[in-house]
Amino acid sequence: MSERTVRAPAKINLHLGVGAPREDGFHPLVTVYQAVGLHDDVTVREADDWSVEVAVADWMAGVELPPVEDNIVTRAADLLAAHHGVPRRGAVHVAKAIPVAGGMAGGSADAAAALVALDRLWGTGTTDEDLLALAAELGSDVPFALVGGTALGTGRGELVERVPDAGTWWWVAVPAHAGLSTPAVYRHFDVMVPDASAQPPVPDTLLAALAAGDVDALAAALHNDLQAPALDLRPELGALIARGEEAGALRGLLSGSGPTCLFLCRDGDHAREVAAALDAGDPGDHPHPTVLVANGAVSGAHLVEYA
Ligand code: C5P
Repeated sequence: MSERTVRAPAKINLHLGVGAPREDGFHPLVTVYQAVGLHDDVTVREADDWSVEVAVADWMAGVELPPVEDNIVTRAADLLAAHHGVPRRGAVHVAKAIPVAGGMAGGSADAAAALVALDRLWGTGTTDEDLLALAAELGSDVPFALVGGTALGTGRGELVERVPDAGTWWWVAVPAHAGLSTPAVYRHFDVMVPDASAQPPVPDTLLAALAAGDVDALAAALHNDLQAPALDLRPELGALIARGEEAGALRGLLSGSGPTCLFLCRDGDHAREVAAALDAGDPGDHPHPTVLVANGAVSGAHLVEYA
């Protein structure tokens, strides 16, 4: 029985510049993505029909998942099967360790991993170019989940280009119990920033900090245009960011459209110290399920098991 496991990383946005909505409703973005070491694993097995089973890491027990027919893995399979004119067949298992609805592109990671895994299982030999085009149809940050590393994202986020990155960056990530809806955060951005520019600027200072491997310069340059609207919807996230910075993080920042908050630290030991401080005390004071430590940049969707 043939089986493949493909692993895909979570993404964070070191910079997220958002412009005024386009005619198609999407927002023009200039973003700097980084793939970090939290992963979902997608395993596909030969089968006569189609099934998707999802398991979440213990700390996410009880989280709400979309029904299988809406699952982005099924959409990825439909798209790949239609592209090649082959039947959609397989038994899929998704092991999720990326926070669900957390602003770390867990669904996009699953879609990217499913494309790669099913392409191998079905022997359809999709070109890299076609794989990226299919990924872009599935979601704005699915192409980045294929590419990984550190990359500049433009268009609605789907056009990705690797950028020089000399550092190993250490992050503490704090997910929230309840997810935030990405469209709702973008809508709130439109209300709060009615005069957004058509084309957000390229973050030259941040790109220079990455190329130099300078963590203090990177901390100073981190920026997310969705942070103000997300914090307006969820004021408690502001308090969490302040707590992380008081605990010694170089900078706290919202991840993507949230609600996960990120803290840049100097190195691995520093990240574990900040994580311990955020985890300490009365759980009533920090209503989050867990505190994660991850470094970046890591690679995009890749095969990890083959039988
Ligand atoms: O592309 P994706 O399916 O990930 O986008 C989810 C939602 O996020 C979109 O339906 C849209 O509301 C919002 N979005 C946006 N502009 C982008 C990316 C996403 O408005 N560039």
